[in-house]
Amino acid sequence: MDYQNILTRREKGVGVAQFNRPKALNALNREMMGEVIHALEQFDADPDVGCLIVTGDERAFAAGADIKEMVQARPVDMLNNPFIDYWDRLLRIGKPVVAAVSGFALGGGCEFAMACDMIVASDSAQFGQPEINLGVMPGAGGTQRLTRAVGKALAMEMVLNDRRLSADEAARFGLINKVVPVETYLQEAIDFASQIAARAPVAVRMAKEAVNAAFEMPLNAALAHERRLFYMLFSTGDQKEGMQAFVDKRRAEWRGE
Ligand code: CAA
Repeated sequence: MDYQNILTRREKGVGVAQFNRPKALNALNREMMGEVIHALEQFDADPDVGCLIVTGDERAFAAGADIKEMVQARPVDMLNNPFIDYWDRLLRIGKPVVAAVSGFALGGGCEFAMACDMIVASDSAQFGQPEINLGVMPGAGGTQRLTRAVGKALAMEMVLNDRRLSADEAARFGLINKVVPVETYLQEAIDFASQIAARAPVAVRMAKEAVNAAFEMPLNAALAHERRLFYMLFSTGDQKEGMQAFVDKRRAEWRGE
């Protein structure tokens, strides 16, 4: 597919998809969302890629859903628009997805980052859900993921009163994994992702699924699910190799099977 709104590349076993509508601060329009999800699905199927990154540019990860596309929309237009359904496809990506965030991560931009598995942010990043200023509210998971990440009190302030978080605050409140200098944020995110990409691939996928189940299942069911995934890993060559390598005091060589 020939992308018009994103850039893609592979580096150190990491597939990078970059929003590329800088003049609109990477506002998430329908076309760009379709392209980024397509690229992530391609990386997910690529055996040479072990971890994925979604990023924007230094000034903006994404300043939200494209407001200009929605001004005159009726409910049925929103319903028929696949825009928010793209988030469901993001959640079905099996390999870990890291959001490398710099600048604005607002509205749908913040929601997109939160739907990823981890967030590495530059020290200039700003997270917020300003939809209230437009007479609406978050519609792509913001009220739920933010509340689970930072708790009810702060989520209420952010969603009802446009309270924004700096990168340091977002790290302190547990929304993101780490804060790095803006000059090197993407490279640091790639290094972070490449460490995961070098690990046992099947175990990484199962582990991601198990952690995410904590947000979707009651505890008993999630614990049972975790146990089944754990047992299943004993069917892989990587489990035999990993444990034998430990016993032999050598480095394991993962085959992803
Ligand atoms: N949609 C469409 N265009 C946007 C946009 C958005 N979300 N955010 C910025 N842009 C455009 C601006 O219209 C402007 O375009 P023009 O040059 O053609 O006028 C360009 O990007 C640069 O923006 P500004 O001139 O406003 O830049 P700034 O530095 O003065 O302000 C900002 C930056 C504070 C991020 C401001 O642009 C802003 O508030 N943007 C909107 C943020 C927002 O409300 N996001 C939520 C969207 S709704 C949503 O996401 C719903 C959902 O839950 C799915």
